[in-house]
Amino acid sequence: MHEEIDIPGLMAALTLEEKATLLSGRDGWGTAGIERLGIPSITLTDGPHGLRMQDPRAASFSFDVSLPATCFPTAAALGSSWDVDLLTRVGAALGAESRAADVAVLLGPGINIKRSPLCGRNFEYLSEDPVISGRLGAALVRGVQSTGVGASVKHFAANNQETDRMRVSAEVDVRTLREIYLAGFEHIVTTAKPWTMMAAYNRVNGVYAAQNGWLLTEVLRDDWAFDGLVVSDWGAVTDPVAAVTAGLDLEMPSTNGGSAAQLVDAVKAGRIEEADLDRAVTRLLTLIERTAQGSGPVEKVDFAQHHTLARRAAAESAVLLKNDDAILPLDPDARMSVAVIGEFARTPTFQGGGSSRVNAVQVDNALDALAAAAGEHLRLSFSPGFALSGEEEPALLPEAVSAAEAADVAVVFLGLPEGMESEGHDREHLDLPDVQLRLLEAVARVNRDVVVVLANGGVVQVTSWERHAKAVLEGWLNGQAGGGAIADLLFGRANPCGRLAETIPLRLQDNPSHLNFPGTDGTVLYGERIYVGYRYYDAKDLPVGHPFGHGLSYTTFAYSDLRTEVDGEGEEAVVRARFTLTNTGPVAGKEVVQVYVGDVACSVDRPVRELKAFTKVELAPGRSTPVEFELRARDLSFFSPAHDRWVLEAGDFDISVGASSRDLRLTTTVTVAAPPPVLPLTLESLVREWLADPIGGPLLRQTLSRVRGSALAADPTILSMVESMPLSRLITMVGDRLDTGDITRFLEQTTAREP
Ligand code: GLC
Repeated sequence: MHEEIDIPGLMAALTLEEKATLLSGRDGWGTAGIERLGIPSITLTDGPHGLRMQDPRAASFSFDVSLPATCFPTAAALGSSWDVDLLTRVGAALGAESRAADVAVLLGPGINIKRSPLCGRNFEYLSEDPVISGRLGAALVRGVQSTGVGASVKHFAANNQETDRMRVSAEVDVRTLREIYLAGFEHIVTTAKPWTMMAAYNRVNGVYAAQNGWLLTEVLRDDWAFDGLVVSDWGAVTDPVAAVTAGLDLEMPSTNGGSAAQLVDAVKAGRIEEADLDRAVTRLLTLIERTAQGSGPVEKVDFAQHHTLARRAAAESAVLLKNDDAILPLDPDARMSVAVIGEFARTPTFQGGGSSRVNAVQVDNALDALAAAAGEHLRLSFSPGFALSGEEEPALLPEAVSAAEAADVAVVFLGLPEGMESEGHDREHLDLPDVQLRLLEAVARVNRDVVVVLANGGVVQVTSWERHAKAVLEGWLNGQAGGGAIADLLFGRANPCGRLAETIPLRLQDNPSHLNFPGTDGTVLYGERIYVGYRYYDAKDLPVGHPFGHGLSYTTFAYSDLRTEVDGEGEEAVVRARFTLTNTGPVAGKEVVQVYVGDVACSVDRPVRELKAFTKVELAPGRSTPVEFELRARDLSFFSPAHDRWVLEAGDFDISVGASSRDLRLTTTVTVAAPPPVLPLTLESLVREWLADPIGGPLLRQTLSRVRGSALAADPTILSMVESMPLSRLITMVGDRLDTGDITRFLEQTTAREP
């Protein structure tokens, strides 16, 4: 239940100075209140995978001093679950803990596209693909907001690196922005209706995101009908007047009155209308109203239940990259010995650094969880193998090697040490620390049955070492309950069902952003355009370490009998498809069915195929189920800067369903009809385009026929010579013999014509 507040009444009562005061923070995490009018201060705080509420008793600020909260798996893990329902539940739990702490807005989810695997915050983001980012981000938003707490989708937009993040200009062409870097935000705004969006630090094509009218007003509000509040990233505003003019509503944190004073002066000087401030204040009051909790009691947080959910989410997110000889799952009741090697088994790394850091209520470790689940005949040993500090500790390696030699199976826990992945800096490479790789090689020399468990946020390069292991389980930075989840997966109590939401390249150099990351001289050129991640590797037919969408299971699935039908055409076109999925293996499991679309022939270049739908299906062994999905015009369209809109071109489309972007099980081709996209005619349009236009063509022929002594309209050979000429050039050539009055009037009218 929300408390209604009299927004019109408050707007009428607020002074200019009070309005300006409301448009920037009171302090680090609270908005300004206006006590005179009963306008409360509300709290906005992090973060995407757990509540990071500054401990008010802390003497000074630190990302590590916050109130205890549940640390769920990071977005890199959650993104690998491909599970919309799960993420809605995680969002609801995040909202419940936020509400209990009287937090009005939780600053997440982070959904920036993983343009480069080196980005230091990739652990906080969901995918290299906008469909996953959009659908899973929307699920988190719906979950959080179901509790009456606002979400804040971040960082809008093109914040794909940490290097120079507060100044760098992301130079991105419009089509790439629309199809890749904005599409996830668009899906969330138009389907989950977040109550806030967070404007990013960086510039987009030279203009700071927090002051970018095209982003914050034309795209976000005019195109997507966003009706919430835009808050800046902390310290992202350099010019509060430009920010409010562009459509920013709340600058955080406090500027100690500085920005308010600038806004008041600007109104008085006529550099900004008071109505612009009113617009922003109204959005803040609307947010206060939306997040105002009724008198109902705040649910007491069930941290035990949240921990169980965190463990389930971590298990659903892990990706089984390889499993030769079906070495996994291990039988906990078998008479065998298992050497657990690697400090991460005892001291887990389960989140990254920076503003998303959570003071976890409790932390499982895999070693204890394995011991708790092991049967009476299973003997476990533990060897740290390496020091977390990365320092050489010579005794650790031989100790681990002898433990491996004495055991039936060696389970080696590897990963990225604390501090390698954090807000504020990017990574330099994709490799695991040398000390860990030396350990793995030494263990593999004495034991053939090696399992590697990984803990990392952004992907690591695996090709150079995975031959040493029969199985590799990518656990990600999987939250406070990750240790228990890994034990569940290793012992088969959970069946791996995560899928890669980010390609693992063979080599860093193969990544399409490699020559343009992180940019120079304050700009970073997105030279790869729309070819991000698998879109690039597939376009170049490059081998990869493991492909986007990849992940094994302890069972197997078969796809059969794909049928499609096309209804309607153009914007009304719908492709309906169904096929049968069967669990052909020995145990129950979940398959992530992926639907890819390829435009067979198009007037512009397009990726070979793009993910357009997915669903996670659970099946008992031997069971089958029909799987149905629909693709609409937008799923088949590309963004056309010339038309300034999404365009569906008639023709054939390959529809594929599969278990990864490189494991397409069934493909069929459908033909979709659509009228040719009409380009708005201008004087720079070609004569050919004018003649093809149903209205412009006859008008131009008529105009040309009136040119004195001209065979222009009559003689097709002459017309064919000038057809490839912009009309403006023809007009110049014909000169004053051409009466362009009708054309001018037509152009004035067509600016109002629907494109
Ligand atoms: C940080 C981050 C943002 C976070 C905010 C508040 O700099 O970029 O993700 O929500 O500031 O901590």
